[in-house]
Parts: sequence; structure tokens; C-alpha cells
Amino acid sequence: MNGGKRSTNGRIRMNVLQNKYTKEIKDVLAKYPEDQKRAAVMPLLYIAQRGQGFVSKHDMQDIAELCEITSTDVASIVGFYTLYHEKPEGKIRIQVCNDLPCALRGADEFLEALCDSLDIGVGETTPDGLVTIEAVMCLAACDRAPMFQAQTGKGIHYHEHQTAESALQVIDEYRAREEKK
Ligand code: FES
Repeated sequence: MNGGKRSTNGRIRMNVLQNKYTKEIKDVLAKYPEDQKRAAVMPLLYIAQRGQGFVSKHDMQDIAELCEITSTDVASIVGFYTLYHEKPEGKIRIQVCNDLPCALRGADEFLEALCDSLDIGVGETTPDGLVTIEAVMCLAACDRAPMFQAQTGKGIHYHEHQTAESALQVIDEYRAREEKK
């Protein structure tokens, strides 16, 4: 059977991710030595997230099994990187850096004004389900704050030297593209 493993309670646990992306996962794992499977975590997370926009707890367990590490290890990687998400949210993910250097350049006020304009809080999604606003750590554009990174189905884009007004304009453009789909 493909992707099944006996768990501690004696039941066969299906590795759903492996069953779904058998060839792709096999190709990824083949790139790493047998004793270095943990190095495949990032590409496997990418595969899992690509399908549904986030990495579920079940996916994390599947990846942990494939990489022979614990699901806590996988969860900590998902939690660390802003590009990975643990739950489904808006199709347009606006990630504002409000780490200290950006905060000194007005990132907190920018974030607050942006959230107020969209009538949501940090970490929330607009009622149409399209836009999620998040606060994140350094995105390596500290001297160009206020700034945000937008993640959409079309990739990741940086927007620097922003005001709430300019950011809303950018968000409207992303929204229009999503609504056309
Ligand atoms: S602290 Fe915000 S980009 Fe570096």
C-alpha cells in the first residue's frame, strides 16, 4: 500500500500527502541522502501548501513522517517562515513588517490605519474572504518602511514606502484581479 505506516496504536496511518503527490514527493526525496531526509521539509511544505493555500496539521504529520522528524519540528518551521500558513485565509495576504526598525519608521501607525480602513484587525480577513492582514517580522526592507509583502496566487510582491492610501490602492488592484477569476 502506498504511503501507509503502522502507528503506535497498531493502526495503519495513511500518508495522504504522499498518496496525493506520489511522484513529486518521490522526486523531492530522491534529491537528498537517506540520512538527510529532514532537508526535504521546505520543498514538501511548498507542495502541501500549493494545493490548498495552507499547511494543515495532517500535512505536517505526513511531512514529519516522510522526513523522519517530529511534527513539532515541522510546525516550528511553518511558524517561523512568513511564507507558510497554518490555516486558510484570504487569497490576498498582506504582510506588514512592524519589527523594530520598521516601527521606528511608522509601521505600527501604517498597520493600524490600514486595518481601520479595511475594518478588520491584525490577523483578520475581510468579510468577502479576500484580504488578510498580518504583522510579520523583518522582511529585509527596513530602510523602505512602511512596507508590506503581498502574497497572492500570482506570487509574492514587495510594496515599499507605503501610506495607508497607497496600500489600499494596491489592495484594490489585487482584489479586482481576484474578482475577475
Ligand atoms: S524590520 Fe521591517 S523590513 Fe526589516
